[in-house]
Amino acid sequence: MPRSPFLPPPALLLLLLLLEVPGAAKASPLQAFSAGTATCKAHDLCLQGPRPEPQAPLVNVSLYYESLCGACRSFLVRDLFPTWLMVLEILNVTLVPYGNAQERNVSGTWEFTCQHGELECRLNMVEACILDRLGRDSALLTIVCLEELEDMEKNLRPCLELYAPDVSPDSIMECATGERGIQLMHINAQLTDALQPPHEYVPWVLVNEKPLEDPSQLLSLVCQLYQGREKPDICSSMADPPREVCYK
Ligand SMILES: *[C@@H]1O[C@H](CO)[C@@H](O)[C@H](O)[C@H]1NC(C)=O
Ligand SMILES: *[C@@H]1O[C@H](CO)[C@@H](O)[C@H](O)[C@H]1NC(C)=O
Ligand SMILES: *[C@@H]1O[C@H](CO)[C@@H](O)[C@H](O)[C@H]1NC(C)=O
Repeated sequence: MPRSPFLPPPALLLLLLLLEVPGAAKASPLQAFSAGTATCKAHDLCLQGPRPEPQAPLVNVSLYYESLCGACRSFLVRDLFPTWLMVLEILNVTLVPYGNAQERNVSGTWEFTCQHGELECRLNMVEACILDRLGRDSALLTIVCLEELEDMEKNLRPCLELYAPDVSPDSIMECATGERGIQLMHINAQLTDALQPPHEYVPWVLVNEKPLEDPSQLLSLVCQLYQGREKPDICSSMADPPREVCYK
């Protein structure tokens, strides 16, 4: 895969996180370089076994975004993804690709226009279909993989091969160019238009249904909001903000 305009590829990012944040490595059910399961190739990032049972309701993080907005990609890749890697056992992440798009009813069919043009509409649809077809974790990993790369259409196949090898790119494209894609995008339009307060910009992030003002505070806020008595290790060792995990 070509190098990312934002970051090193996810496996390398994880490695950096593991190197820089030993607490996270200990606490995380994510394992790199595992060889055990049939659907995981040796150098992939694999989710191993069940997550630890949370003792309190998960902290809800919802991201309203659009596929080609730079700030959305940056938030997804640099804030949300590392936070998820570190405390996934207490997080419930919801992605809603649509953002500042608009929809019109053209003789009974929904048609969409997107801020960054037709390609963005198409990619929003691809991501909506990924979220529809894949499990929550592999959907998030696949979307992060796409969003950190330059040519998302071309990279659908390699990203799926890494994180959802059982799902064919053709089935995703079939969804994205057909009725199902339109249906899913209409649902996202309704979710986005129903936001209270309405979104002012994208990325628009809700943490326990409240707008997040400072994206760099995501991890500390999630740690603070989680009501379980036992928090992930990283929460108690957060003297340095997690953003300083060294992207170099
Ligand atoms: C997250 O959302 C779910 C479903 O809406 C809800 O049951 C749960 O209480 C929420 N978690 C928190 C911490 O508010
Ligand atoms: C996660 O969030 C979704 C809504 O985005 C909600 O429907 C679901 O119940 C939540 N799950 C948990 C375990 O809180
Ligand atoms: C969309 O437009 C068609 C006719 O153009 C109309 O019959 C239908 O009720 C409209 N649907 C909605 C949800 O507005």
